[in-house]
This record gives sequence, structure tokens and C-alpha cells, in this order.
Amino acid sequence: MNPTGNSPKILVTGGAGFIGSHTVVSLVEAGFEPVIVDDFSNSERSVLDGLRKILGRDVTYYPANCNDASAMEAIFQNESFTGIIHFAAYKAVGESVQQPLKYYRNNLDSLMLLLELMPKYGVQNLVFSSSCTVYGQPEHLPVTESTPRLPAQSPYGNTKAISEDIIRDTVTANQPIKALALRYFNPVGAHPSAEIGELPLGVPANLVPFITQTAAGIRPSLTVYGNDYNTPDGTCIRDYIHVVDLAEAHVQALRKLSESSANASYDVINIGTGRGETVLNIIKTFEQETGVTLNYTIGPRRPGDVEQVYADVSKANQMLDWTASRSLAESLRDAWRWQQKIS
Ligand code: WQD
Repeated sequence: MNPTGNSPKILVTGGAGFIGSHTVVSLVEAGFEPVIVDDFSNSERSVLDGLRKILGRDVTYYPANCNDASAMEAIFQNESFTGIIHFAAYKAVGESVQQPLKYYRNNLDSLMLLLELMPKYGVQNLVFSSSCTVYGQPEHLPVTESTPRLPAQSPYGNTKAISEDIIRDTVTANQPIKALALRYFNPVGAHPSAEIGELPLGVPANLVPFITQTAAGIRPSLTVYGNDYNTPDGTCIRDYIHVVDLAEAHVQALRKLSESSANASYDVINIGTGRGETVLNIIKTFEQETGVTLNYTIGPRRPGDVEQVYADVSKANQMLDWTASRSLAESLRDAWRWQQKIS
């Protein structure tokens, strides 16, 4: 399918990343024309080959940094976007504690630059990549969007909370922007074609890529960070959502913004499955689905981990007309297929 002149163009910053690349696929499948801006600082150019194999066509991309004002302005002049999905951000929780200014500078400046360029070039619709990390350890579960945000557990998490406020205040100042901040829970899995997936740089911080690398023999064993929590089996609970379900939620968010006649609007929406799963159940499900016996040990808690968090997704169901449809088993099968492909 070649780019057709009349498909609405969507700027996808960080479009070569894990969630960004899967969203590019869903955008094309929904009749949009994605334009990727990515400096490949946390992704690989090979993702573009994977996208070409899935889509049977090239996707326009600009190898630029979202903080480069002249490069971004030139891109807005060169394209005529009807919307933006802003993924580009540093997202390593641990690194953000070591290098907070790098995170505040990169994650906040890139957002503010977009918010300045949007009214200048008549781009009204913004979908922003936020995170459930803004909830910290919620008092009540499942978390709804009115659950109060708690002080961030990391500078990374703080950049997401501050970004939400920057967008809200910009909209309140009556800039002609309609924005939705999607608070992700735990994205996992890979495209069923195994042409794109998660590419953790270095030692994975996240659970599922560490599981698949252990199963592939890249890591000798997985350490479960604590089994003395107040949960059914003592391990932490999270809401693991298939990355393609998450990608499709972005398309729905964009559609709803495009359909809205408001001059300016801002809202936040939880994007999860609504189900909480323990770490040990992730391991058990992975072993059942793949037939691989995982080598793991129980270690000490990881500082900063919340005990349990999972989403109330009724707002996403109603407002976006969207529900996560893929099971945990499917997520883990897809993650494993991808790991086998890249190993
Ligand atoms: C999940 C569970 C760990 C690794 C983070 C960010 C969040 C978002 C998703 C960016 C926890 C346990 C993990 C391991 C383990 N990122 N675990 N052994 O911490 O819920 O969320 O990633 O937006 O903002 O905070 O995800 O996958 O790191 O951990 O036992 O080797 O798995 O303790 O309970 P987390 P995670």
C-alpha cells in the first residue's frame, strides 16, 4: 500500500520505539499516514525494515531529535499533520535517578516545543504517552483516573506527571489543542509477525524481556524481586497489556480527538487490561505457553517498586470505545516468538 495523498498525516515522535512502532502499524491499518521522527537514541533503524515487511511499504521518517527546534520546525513546514502522538522520551527509571537533569531536559523540552509548534501550524490533536507510575502505590485498587497522583517514585515518573500538567495548563490557556494523556500500565508482547518487538538496550530492567532473555539462555537466571508482599503469592501485581492492544488504543484516541468539535480539551485515560497479575503467575503462564522451564530465584525487593497497581479501564472502554482484547498467554507467546527471532 503506497502512501496515498489523502490519508491524514500523523506525527509519531519516537515512532521507531517499542510502543511507537506498533502504533505506526495500527495507524496505517486504520487508514492514517504516520510520519516518524526518531533519533534512534533508544531504538534501532532495523525497526524500519520490520515495519516495511509488515506493511509492504515504506513509512516516512526523519532521523531528528525532538528537542532540535529548527529540525522540528522544518518537519512541520514540510508536512501537514492532522495530529501528533508523542512517544519520544527517555524512560529508564533507574537511569533517571542517576541523571535527573538529562530526563527533565529531554522529556519536558521536547513536549514544550511540540506545544509551541502545534498552534503555529494548525495541528490540533495530541495524544501523549503517560504512565501509571504517576499513581505511585494507590490506596484503592483498581486505580481510576480520579485516583490522586502521588509524588513520583523517580525523576522519570515526575517528567510524566509534569508533562500532563504542562499540557493541561496549555489547554486551559485556551491554546487550540485537544489532548489526551494515556496512562499506560505494563506494555508487553510483540507484533504477531515477529517483525517488530521490544529491543531493550543492555540488561533489561523490565520483567518480560528479562524472562524471554533467560528462556533464550542470554541471562543465566531471573531474579524475582521479593515474595514477601501482601499479595496472594507474595510477589508484586501489575496490569500487563499486549502492545498491539495499546497501539490500537492510540488510534482510537486520535479518532475521538479528530471527531471532537471542541476548540480545546484535555483528559487523561488509563490504558490497561483491568486485570492484575503476580510476577509468579507471569512466570507460570510463560512456562505453560512456551514449554520452557524458567530458571529463577527469589531475591530481595527492588527499591521503588509498588506492591500492586492495576487499572480500572471503564473510562477507556466508554470514551474510546476500546477494550484490550488479547490475553496474557497471547502476550507471552508473542514475546517469546519475537525473542526467538532476534536471538
Ligand atoms: C514489573 C514487576 C518487578 C524485573 C516500569 C516503569 C513504568 C513503565 C513499565 C515506562 C515488578 C518485577 C522485574 C525483574 C522482577 N515504564 N521484576 N524481576 O516496574 O511495573 O514499570 O516499566 O513507562 O513506568 O516503572 O515494570 O517490568 O520493571 O517490573 O521480579 O528482573 O516485575 O519487581 O514487580 P514496572 P517492570
